[in-house]
Amino acid sequence: MNDSITTGKFITVEGTEGVGKSTNMAFIEAWLKQAGKELVVTREPGGTELGEKLRAVLLDAKEQSMCDDTELLLMFAARAQHLQEVIQPALAAGKWVLCDRFTDATYAYQGGGRGIKMSRIAQLEQWVQGDLRPDMTLILDLPVAAGLERAGKRSEPDRFELEKHDFFNKVRGTYLARAAALPERYQVIDAAPSITEVQQSIQRVLEKMV
Ligand code: TMP
Repeated sequence: MNDSITTGKFITVEGTEGVGKSTNMAFIEAWLKQAGKELVVTREPGGTELGEKLRAVLLDAKEQSMCDDTELLLMFAARAQHLQEVIQPALAAGKWVLCDRFTDATYAYQGGGRGIKMSRIAQLEQWVQGDLRPDMTLILDLPVAAGLERAGKRSEPDRFELEKHDFFNKVRGTYLARAAALPERYQVIDAAPSITEVQQSIQRVLEKMV
């Protein structure tokens, strides 16, 4: 029997601000469902009742005194809950999991953006996740200025959206470096062309997975 029929895959979607993550998450969800996959769609930080409370604290623009280690640990606290309550049970039941951001975002934002040592993040990753890693991570990639312009048209900025161009350049650079180091686990999708072209690129990746 084809393994992919019985065994779910863990797919994560990443990118800097304004790359079209929400629109493309909806496209991936619809595509996988139409392909007959039993799918759990979730997000980080969040995805559980407790995780969503932690998300509200993490994104609150008024939390200006939060130190970098607190931010890092709250991300992993939310992730521990998410893995236990949602991700691991779904994968164990053979379902597919589509997650809007995961630990690559921690390497990119807390590691690249904030400057926390990657080795410390790797320690927490191993502690909280054991050997669990996504099967595939799609990185939607756009030059930072273009993304910020798109994102800027939206409502009140959250705590991360208040960061400057330089921060997001480091975030983007970290995503691209991780993809280059492990090309079989990542697909970098150029998010600059039309939505139709971006979704054609995404579809080509999904077709290879199902
Ligand atoms: P978003 O899901 O609307 O993109 O917002 C989540 C924000 O949280 C986004 O700015 C990236 C940030 N984030 C981190 O800094 N580290 C993480 O580990 C995760 C999952 C998200």
